[in-house]
Amino acid sequence: MAGAYMSKKLKGRDFLTIADFTSEEIRLFLDAAHDLKKELKAGIPHPVLQGKTLGMIFTKPSTRTRVSFEVGMYQLGGYPLFLNANDIQLRRGESLPDTARTLERYLDGIMIRTFAQEDVEELAEFASIPVINGLTDLVHPTQALADIMTIEEHKGRLAGLKLAFIGDGNNVAHSLLQTCAKVGMSMTVACPPGYEPEPRILQEAVADAAKTGAKLEVVEDPAAAVEGADVVYTDLWASMGQEEEQEERARVFSRYQVNTGLLEQAKSDVIVLHCLPAHLGEEITDEVMDGPHSVVFDEAENRLHMHKAIMALLMQ
Ligand code: CP
Ligand code: NVA
Repeated sequence: MAGAYMSKKLKGRDFLTIADFTSEEIRLFLDAAHDLKKELKAGIPHPVLQGKTLGMIFTKPSTRTRVSFEVGMYQLGGYPLFLNANDIQLRRGESLPDTARTLERYLDGIMIRTFAQEDVEELAEFASIPVINGLTDLVHPTQALADIMTIEEHKGRLAGLKLAFIGDGNNVAHSLLQTCAKVGMSMTVACPPGYEPEPRILQEAVADAAKTGAKLEVVEDPAAAVEGADVVYTDLWASMGQEEEQEERARVFSRYQVNTGLLEQAKSDVIVLHCLPAHLGEEITDEVMDGPHSVVFDEAENRLHMHKAIMALLMQ
């Protein structure tokens, strides 16, 4: 075993938001994930987490994140425990600090998907073991790293590319802004007024982008955003926890659809990403989802390789 995933530079760190990592550290996650993917395809085992355990707390549903972390931990030689938040004492009011101080006695790492970013931060503050953010209302950092891995595979580079994000200025958009800023990719978010990314996240990302030469902007018109884009990205109009707003959002976002007409404004070799799950016919058409530009299932696959990289680097 000799891949970049053997590095001890990030050992013991939490993974709460992309903003916590330097451009060099993001490069290390990418190199580790590419190496792990190559080895898996070649049938080379890499049991670097033998004897280690990961607890996975979910207070929201998941297909990709749950399965890729669980399978990834198995492939690294460790043991994953799925902890539905409804089945542990958290649901009955046990505090996050007490949960953290208990779990750290059994586990080597915790992955958590929940609503408030503050809860993930509190868990990390009280647990001495690495805590990995598997999505909050604010950010989705493991997703963004798998996304840039996918872009790098298809485009051969990151710096100097342009990504257009069409839709809600949500958790996925936030993590992509933070990530693009660090790797020198320009990003334009097209969203309806009132659904822009959080100003604090945008301002911090713009400050980082100034150092890498990336240009970040928010516009209203989807066609203007995709002009000259190498990558077009979209996500659900209504995220988990916003189910009651679904009808209102379907109205507000109706022109924020990634369809064949919109893609014609982008570069001819544009690739289309979607974090999934998708609502076909809403934010993306069937035609684009299954069309020649779509790399969404490569992207979904890369969650596995990137999550293994994150666990290996933090927990070895
Ligand atoms: N993209 C993503 O996080 O998918 P899941 O909600 O299925 O985990
Ligand atoms: N923005 C979406 C992402 C799902 C992976 C949500 O939070 O539901």
